[in-house]
Amino acid sequence: MTVRIETERLILRPIEPRDCDDHIAMMSDPLVAETLGGVQSRDILWRQFASYLGHWSIRGFGWFSVEERNSGAWLGRVGPWMPEGWPGLECGWTIASSAWGKGYAPEAAIGATKWIFAQFPDLPRIISTIDPSNTKSQAVAKKIGETKTEETFDFSGFKLDVWAADRASWLSRFG
Ligand SMILES: CC(C)(COP(=O)(O)OP(=O)(O)OC[C@H]1O[C@@H](n2cnc3c(N)ncnc32)[C@H](O)[C@@H]1OP(=O)(O)O)[C@@H](O)C(=O)NCCC(=O)NCCS
Repeated sequence: MTVRIETERLILRPIEPRDCDDHIAMMSDPLVAETLGGVQSRDILWRQFASYLGHWSIRGFGWFSVEERNSGAWLGRVGPWMPEGWPGLECGWTIASSAWGKGYAPEAAIGATKWIFAQFPDLPRIISTIDPSNTKSQAVAKKIGETKTEETFDFSGFKLDVWAADRASWLSRFG
């Protein structure tokens, strides 16, 4: 599937094999990895990246690579994620630390969520699974209209909060 989402400052496109080294570099940054279980070895990060390509193959959707329109720089991964056992269709976000604080994650997540709701007309809500200590990610969730639910999700020893926005209210605000 050829997908290209343009926002004011960003381009989103499906993550591709050529993004592997940029992705590993981002995930090898202790600032980024701090809220994602800590820095992992390159071989583990390679396998993680391979699973992202596999997610696109199996599900027909998956992470988008985020590029800065002006520079073409690769900034991170944002978008739909729902591996087996996930509590719903998630919009997730991780941005390289050199580009933090510019509102890129919420801008990309709004573009991605518009695409998700258009792609899945019967999807009742979008979720994000967020560690209770991850205030940066909670700030993004709030900016894209999600609120914390009472639900939690146990993932690899972490008890994550489920944040969500229902379709009708999200589309009335951002659609
Ligand atoms: C969460 C994340 C995607 C936010 O990306 P972003 O493009 O910087 O998003 P924003 O610019 O909207 O900033 C979000 C919040 O991050 C914090 N922040 C921004 N710049 C920061 C910086 N340089 N240093 C520390 N915190 C910063 C602020 O609290 C900000 O909220 P505010 O705008 O209400 O003050 C990014 O911090 C990241 O990739 N973190 C590591 C991976 C991660 O935790 N992913 C989410 C897993 S659920």
